[in-house]
Amino acid sequence: MTSEVKADDQEVETAEQMREDLRPWFNPIVELVESHPAGLDWTEYFGNQNPVELDVGCGRGLFVHSASRRNPDRNYVGIEIDYKEARRAARRLKKIESPNGRFWGGDANEAYTKLIAPGSVEAIHVYFPDPWWKARHRRRRIFNDLFLAGCSRLLKVGGHLHSWTDVEEYFGGIESLMDNHPDFKKLLAPEERIPQHDMDYQTSFERKKRQLGLPIYRGLWQKVK
Ligand SMILES: C[S@@+](CC[C@H](N)C(=O)[O-])C[C@H]1O[C@@H](n2cnc3c(N)ncnc32)[C@H](O)[C@@H]1O
Repeated sequence: MTSEVKADDQEVETAEQMREDLRPWFNPIVELVESHPAGLDWTEYFGNQNPVELDVGCGRGLFVHSASRRNPDRNYVGIEIDYKEARRAARRLKKIESPNGRFWGGDANEAYTKLIAPGSVEAIHVYFPDPWWKARHRRRRIFNDLFLAGCSRLLKVGGHLHSWTDVEEYFGGIESLMDNHPDFKKLLAPEERIPQHDMDYQTSFERKKRQLGLPIYRGLWQKVK
């Protein structure tokens, strides 16, 4: 089996890899919904009662990969609509037999409404959501009232929502939704860190944008009720 490794650590899937069974590190959301019609029990899924964090639109999964290694006493699920990205990310977790990192392929909204129990999530991370630049496509942005209502429903009281982007105008929209939501309180967002090595960024998009010298807007909110 061969795999080409690009400079940015992106692997290209071979036909053989595309057929590889990556369970439990990769699951399509539709399959999880089918096998758990009453919703997922995190304790059963991870085999422990540790707090669960979601990375919505996780892309190549750098955040889940780094955070799950750094915090073995927490569980991480990356949700990505692009199966190829999610499978590629899962293959890296399979290599290290990660006990606390998982990737789901499919629409996060589907997982929100059909799979994840209300009040069962400790933190939600939404990094560099697609900006959908054209005005007529803006309604496709993931961060809207409905999505935020879902985040509020899934988060435990005291839980956190993190969202970063390089798109100032989109960040303004996220801030306005979050700051005006009665369930959330704004907290001081983390400052920019100096990376200690080439992959020491929160996500692949943060790495890409910072290497281009772009400013990053960071937001952190706490669910208060
Ligand atoms: C700009 S990329 C950012 C990826 C990653 N968060 C990062 O910072 O590197 C946005 C990602 O969100 C994914 N995405 C968009 N809508 C989604 C949805 N409804 N459910 C899950 N993933 C979604 C896209 O496929 C894409 O990979």
